[in-house]
Amino acid sequence: MDALPFLLLLLLSCPPFFLSDGSALPPLHHHAYAAVDLHPIVLLPGNSCSQLDAELTEQYEPSSSAPASCGAGKGKGRWFRLWKNGTALGDPAVAPCYTDQLRVVYDRAAADYRNVAGVRTCVVSFGTTRGFGSDDDPSDPERSHCFKKMTQVLGRIGYREGENLFGAPYDSRYVPAPPGMSAMAFAAFTADLRRLIEHASRKNGGKPVILVTHSKGGLMAVEFLTRSATPWRRRFVKHLVMVSTGAGGIVVPMQSLAASAYAPPGSLARTERSYGTVFAALPSTKVFGDAPLVVTRRRNYSAYDIPEFLAAVGFSGEEVELYRTRALPVNVGFRAPRVPMTAVYGSGVPTPEQLVYWDGDFSKAPEVVYGDGDGSVNLVSVLALNTVVGDDPEQGFFKAVKIVNATHSGIISDEFAMKRVISEILEANRATYDK
Ligand SMILES: *[C@@H]1O[C@H](CO)[C@@H](O)[C@H](O)[C@H]1NC(C)=O
Ligand SMILES: *[C@@H]1O[C@H](CO)[C@@H](O)[C@H](O)[C@H]1NC(C)=O
Ligand SMILES: *[C@@H]1O[C@H](CO)[C@@H](O)[C@H](O)[C@H]1NC(C)=O
Repeated sequence: MDALPFLLLLLLSCPPFFLSDGSALPPLHHHAYAAVDLHPIVLLPGNSCSQLDAELTEQYEPSSSAPASCGAGKGKGRWFRLWKNGTALGDPAVAPCYTDQLRVVYDRAAADYRNVAGVRTCVVSFGTTRGFGSDDDPSDPERSHCFKKMTQVLGRIGYREGENLFGAPYDSRYVPAPPGMSAMAFAAFTADLRRLIEHASRKNGGKPVILVTHSKGGLMAVEFLTRSATPWRRRFVKHLVMVSTGAGGIVVPMQSLAASAYAPPGSLARTERSYGTVFAALPSTKVFGDAPLVVTRRRNYSAYDIPEFLAAVGFSGEEVELYRTRALPVNVGFRAPRVPMTAVYGSGVPTPEQLVYWDGDFSKAPEVVYGDGDGSVNLVSVLALNTVVGDDPEQGFFKAVKIVNATHSGIISDEFAMKRVISEILEANRATYDK
């Protein structure tokens, strides 16, 4: 019973996601590309692109590293932009409040992650692309890594918000758990996504939907699809165009997890260590095998040694256990979505492949050994899609498209790369497959 109130503290989309009956809505017009009979698109953006609103209830008590004044607005029913509020995060007087309220805790009784007590959150503008990327984010004013430019280009080929173009933002702090374990945030997201896809299809004469994802959005989509019934997938999903996602994680987070151990209490980097997300993209044993990813004089850490690595960079025994029992099975369990799929990825950009902390001091910047990839995603991880997805006898259509010199976010914002992605989306629209 203890866990019940928390179900109400999370998992809402704001405003609550209701769908109108498509029949009352105006008919669809294709302004350009009349030759292509467009299928509706649902976009899933990358990590941290989705906005969160929050409200503090009477239950909220600032933690010891946050000023007591952080609770000043509690119990007043006032909703505010918690993520990403660049103004607040840049203001030393209020930033510690925001980082305190963004924290996630693992609730042993509920066996799930949840918000800190007294913080209610909801994902802004579910169903649309309007909540993709903050317009108050000094680090990315163009929202280039959040599909902002892509939605403009999709508009040029006839996609219209709310008619045949939809967005599925999600609370990036939370991730899927292995089937059978509780993951309320992911469960709520997939329920909303399922209704959104059905709505998008209904609104477009029953045409199945094309899912277009970037980065972590691809992991969310694949987990969603592999847990959907085959008849539902066949009826509602025409194609998955997955941009910049590999089958086996990446090396980059190992560097940020080491660095964040030394970030000051109350900083955003510290808060982010509490998110289930931080373990989600770690290199999987299936793809990276026993290659030394972190090298020190005394010992090396391969993908098999991630539990020891996490302990070495300050995670508690319980947190390491959460990695082992919740994140790892999802990482190594990555499998074919069993809908027609095009994977688009960048290569030819130096990408961290090995981190050398020779004297074993993780507080110092490592010497980075670079390999091939898009700057974030290692090439080996996307190439693994050829076997994990391409060789699955039940997969059907699978195509991998390499874009040379496309960076991780440039692939959805640089003109030359976007053109390729768009042409793959048009091809997915035209394709007919044997089912
Ligand atoms: C961002 O945070 C500031 C400072 O707390 C607040 O005044 C502002 O309303 C927030 N922005 C939004 C969009 O809610
Ligand atoms: C660690 O990996 C490096 C680089 O591959 C290798 O040269 C070294 O022998 C390894 N060290 C240990 C202790 O296994
Ligand atoms: C990629 O970039 C490199 C370095 O700028 C350049 O030499 C090469 O021609 C580019 N390749 C393509 C296919 O654009």
